[in-house]
Amino acid sequence: MGMAESGGAGGTDAGHVAGAPPVIDTSTAHPARVYDYWLGGKDNFAADREAARQALEAYPQLADAVQSNRAFLARAVRYLTGEAEIRQFLDIGTGIPAANNTHQVAQREAPDSRIVYVDNDPIVLLHARALLKSTPQGACDYLQADLRDPDAILAQAARTLDFGQPVALMLLAILQFIADSEDPYALVSRLVAALPPGSYLVVSHPTDDFNPNRQGESIQRYNERVADQATLRGHDETARFFAGLELVEPGVVAVAKWRPASELDSARPSSMWCGVARKP
Ligand SMILES: C[S@@+](CC[C@H](N)C(=O)[O-])C[C@H]1O[C@@H](n2cnc3c(N)ncnc32)[C@H](O)[C@@H]1O
Repeated sequence: MGMAESGGAGGTDAGHVAGAPPVIDTSTAHPARVYDYWLGGKDNFAADREAARQALEAYPQLADAVQSNRAFLARAVRYLTGEAEIRQFLDIGTGIPAANNTHQVAQREAPDSRIVYVDNDPIVLLHARALLKSTPQGACDYLQADLRDPDAILAQAARTLDFGQPVALMLLAILQFIADSEDPYALVSRLVAALPPGSYLVVSHPTDDFNPNRQGESIQRYNERVADQATLRGHDETARFFAGLELVEPGVVAVAKWRPASELDSARPSSMWCGVARKP
């Protein structure tokens, strides 16, 4: 896939998938590319690898813990398409495509599932075509947009999703990029308010509750190098995102402990809290 590189700020046509390749700023580490490195991907540059390795050095289990988050994503989507009978997904903070993206898991279980992906990093826009490979019965769309602008996301997502029917709002490993001063709770409430009863909210959020020293040092090294600073949050701060919703069992737990498929899964390292909740 073609890619334009630049040492300066990246610029793209917001919301557009076709057209000239987006400009990618390779001089500074970016969250999507650092995360790609931890997942064993190839869509990262020297600055990303440096930030990723520095964080790993402080907390060597981080790569496994990130895999636990991806495994949670797949289990949550299977739960939603199966038991919860959800057919629409709004996945904000998509990341660079990895194994088992939301549309692949959902459409494997329910081919008529409709997915809207949202990310603000132009590198993800480069992969939009892969994210748009829908089954003929379902649909996929990709929006270049920012979580800080929920109204723009809702307006554009309405091209593909029917907001009269339940939607699963997926916010996995993204809310840490919204600082307390930007009120991440208000952003989530605004999005949830637009969804009808029977909709779901899925959140995973990095924390230092499990490995206080290592994870804290790891995130400090990360924040010194990446373009978007991350805020770690504890159990109660993560649980607050679900205010007014009905948490599905087992509630807010470490990602490896959310309905694990096996004891082995459950024993894997976690660096994030997670939960799935239904809007009454
Ligand atoms: C750590 S990755 C998580 C990917 C995927 N959700 C997962 O859990 O495997 C976070 C993604 O969120 C995106 N992101 C960060 N801040 C964002 C924002 N304010 N609006 C939209 N996307 C954002 C990054 O570009 C990145 O692709």
